[in-house]
Amino acid sequence: MSSSSEAAAEVTAVLRSLRGVWDEPTVDEFDHAMQAGWHARVDGASDELVLAAVLHDVGRSPLLPGPEPHDRIAREWLTPRFGARVGWLAGAHVAAKRFLADTESGYAAGLSETSVDSLAHQGGAGGVDAAWTTHPWWPDAVRLRRYDDAAKVVGAPGMEIGEIGILAGRIADRSAVERRSRGVPW
Ligand SMILES: [Fe+2]
Repeated sequence: MSSSSEAAAEVTAVLRSLRGVWDEPTVDEFDHAMQAGWHARVDGASDELVLAAVLHDVGRSPLLPGPEPHDRIAREWLTPRFGARVGWLAGAHVAAKRFLADTESGYAAGLSETSVDSLAHQGGAGGVDAAWTTHPWWPDAVRLRRYDDAAKVVGAPGMEIGEIGILAGRIADRSAVERRSRGVPW
């Protein structure tokens, strides 16, 4: 199997495993992922940002059990498959929430109840390491966070799983070429 068809199959399987996984009361993690991708597409996000938006909560998949916080699982699962940018962006979604809750008036008040609860366990508003906020990809991490927050609406439009498989394959191929040219694992 080529890296692109493997990546498409893995992403499809991991997304399907999110059906019936509930973090928010309004949408399950499958619909949440599809809606987050849809918001990214509508916003004109790059392929990498769209894929990171779709897969930012992949750490909640029962196929990827791990003791780590879910943002870290996402980063570690995505990076070797789709490159550092996709992994980093997905892994930044909790940091971006803490940052926005601290710096943007009204942001925390607009969060879902579940998200407010989890914020407390994630260290609360602020205190985000400058390694995140000074990173050149940080503005895209903040965009992803807004797609995440908006992707919790019953019956809202979402991306199609087939479209995401194609996108994942394309990015996996690009990432493999880049890795080979730099002679690094990812
Ligand atoms: Fe999310």
